[in-house]
Amino acid sequence: MTVEDKKSRYSPEFDVDVRGDTITADRYISREWMELENKHLWPKVWHLGGMLSELEEEGDFIRHNFGKDSVIMVRQADGSVKAFYNTCPHRGNRLVLGEAGHTPRITCGYHGWQFTPDGVLAKVQDPDDFAGGDPCGKVKLAELRCDTWGPFVFWCMDEDVAPLKDWLAPFPERLANYGLENWVRVLNLSCDADFNWKIIRDNFNESYHLPTIHPELATFINDGLPTTLFEMYPTGHNAMWMIGHQATTRVDYHSAEVPAPLDDIARAWGINPEDYNGHTGDIRAAVIKAKRELGPSRGYHMYANMTDQQLVDYFHCTLFPNLTLTMSPEQLQVLRTEPHPTDPEKCIFQHWCLYPPVEGQTELVGPLGTVPFKFDAVARHSKYGDGVSLGFVADQDLSIGTTQQQGLNSRGFKGCVLPGQEKRIQRFHELLNDYVKGEK
Ligand code: FES
Ligand SMILES: [Fe+2]
Repeated sequence: MTVEDKKSRYSPEFDVDVRGDTITADRYISREWMELENKHLWPKVWHLGGMLSELEEEGDFIRHNFGKDSVIMVRQADGSVKAFYNTCPHRGNRLVLGEAGHTPRITCGYHGWQFTPDGVLAKVQDPDDFAGGDPCGKVKLAELRCDTWGPFVFWCMDEDVAPLKDWLAPFPERLANYGLENWVRVLNLSCDADFNWKIIRDNFNESYHLPTIHPELATFINDGLPTTLFEMYPTGHNAMWMIGHQATTRVDYHSAEVPAPLDDIARAWGINPEDYNGHTGDIRAAVIKAKRELGPSRGYHMYANMTDQQLVDYFHCTLFPNLTLTMSPEQLQVLRTEPHPTDPEKCIFQHWCLYPPVEGQTELVGPLGTVPFKFDAVARHSKYGDGVSLGFVADQDLSIGTTQQQGLNSRGFKGCVLPGQEKRIQRFHELLNDYVKGEK
């Protein structure tokens, strides 16, 4: 189904009923809720652990700190990737302290125990001093499930959770045309923020905030409600197709002159924007045609596999519980909030931007302006509020976090009142309710 031929905002093919549970404030502020999530939610979902491209050779590793825990993912001799809890079986010291690296032996800094990349103990001090004999070859790091999809590595703590590809459904299939496998993470931005992780999850599950929080997008993304398509899947994930290369229908741009920056976008594809004054909505179709004709000669070979919709529109995928993948034809934004280890009113926000390799391209324009086209060209962690940008649009989203957290702490807040277009928020919280009750 395409955006053009839809009859309603919710895809009849991908819609889910909701119950109407009240979304109360306690889930954003209380330690009890945080503990329920730690017990019943986080161990039962797949987590994006990092980039496969950092794991080229046996012994290459990446680390993902999550809440109070930490996981390492290590490339194996047979090419597979294994994940281990980042804790020493001797007396619990955290093993790997860096973000990523290479080592033939994972070595604990406390008493020097050494493990091969497959997690097996290979060397200890005084091996004869153990009641059962030399523990080497017997003691192993605690292993978790690990799998890969596209350019990413994922881990999961629970054996009963569905296999990764099923868990991610329908996105592996729906995103296959973009050819994400060899896309490169160019921006790797994160920050500590003073609000609960779900505040930004809710924000990404609605587009109701676009006219107020992101007014600049209205000239090249059509955030009009009648043309935005929402999808809700049985897996608990949601998506939204928003028409791109077209101004919003909330304001009458369509019968006026082509607004900036849509005019420049059109020119970049050899289209004269003045030909579209008075019918600016038609530029989208012209860009599709131009991309088909000019894309391959400009190095965009993946266009050949993409649908018209994928060539120009924004596919905003919100995966339960905390991962967002925003697809545009030439950029994948990974946006995620993770819980603070101990404080329910804080979180860690991450924003990665991935781009397809394009012949001859040495730099690109992304949310931080022009940057070199290379892995982690900008990689930094900051404290939100210190003036370090997480990307222009992400900064706008984060700007509401602290005040919403404050408002949710008010005795006057009685629970959310949601319009129909925020049904994805309702669904998210109902699924969360089921998880924290231990019903999932
Ligand atoms: S705690 Fe790791 S070697 Fe002792
Ligand atoms: Fe936003």
